[in-house]
Amino acid sequence: MPSVDKHRQIAKSWDDNAERWTRAVREKLIPSRRTVTDGAVVKIITDRHPRRILDVGCGEGWLSRQLADTIGCEVVGIDGSGGLVTQARTAHENGTYLQHSYDEIASGAALSEEKYDVIVCNFSLLGEHLLELLSVLRSRLRSDGALVVQTTHPFMAVADGTYANGWRLEGFDMFEDEGWNPMPWYFRTFESWIELFRQSGLAVLLCKEPVDPQKRTPLSLIFVCVPA
Ligand SMILES: C[S@@+](CC[C@H](N)C(=O)[O-])C[C@H]1O[C@@H](n2cnc3c(N)ncnc32)[C@H](O)[C@@H]1O
Repeated sequence: MPSVDKHRQIAKSWDDNAERWTRAVREKLIPSRRTVTDGAVVKIITDRHPRRILDVGCGEGWLSRQLADTIGCEVVGIDGSGGLVTQARTAHENGTYLQHSYDEIASGAALSEEKYDVIVCNFSLLGEHLLELLSVLRSRLRSDGALVVQTTHPFMAVADGTYANGWRLEGFDMFEDEGWNPMPWYFRTFESWIELFRQSGLAVLLCKEPVDPQKRTPLSLIFVCVPA
């Protein structure tokens, strides 16, 4: 499947999976999120004491709601899926949730010139071409602001033994219910993430690898990047 079709399929899968995904997140059906990765990303962000946050690929909005509740800061969520943005708005009437694709953000059309203390992408950078998107996000950071990216740890994505950038398929097999529309996602090696940030005008300030407390395997990779 050509890359452009994969990107279309990412968008379609989130539209088709919007209700199932909302239930999975709100009923805390993903063990790694419940035990480790949700708390890890919230801590990294709250430690920076931000006043304005942009949550890119916010999905049904759990992180925006939690940050608005715990820090009392202003949060804007943005996502391409109409179904998920509706879920986010319904659950958080005072919140601000925008429906835009990353292409629209990358073109500069979706965001005002306002700057943010933290821009977070929590498991939401799934496509192959991210340079323009990240460059625009960098331009919306305050000079002391940070981009926080949580993503799949490469260690968990090399079950087939291949450690190389490329497309993978998420079948959502961990869930008991049927009917999920599989989602292509683009795997990046550690080295490629750092090079992508560098090309986008960002420098990695901090990198965290939250681990499963029992198995001691890494559950995610978190980068905190600042304007270079
Ligand atoms: C795995 S979900 C994560 C949602 C949320 N950040 C969370 O932590 O639950 C990925 C999200 O990224 C959004 N997304 C992925 N690619 C996108 C694109 N090209 N344009 C807009 N949204 C996109 C999807 O719609 C989906 O809501």
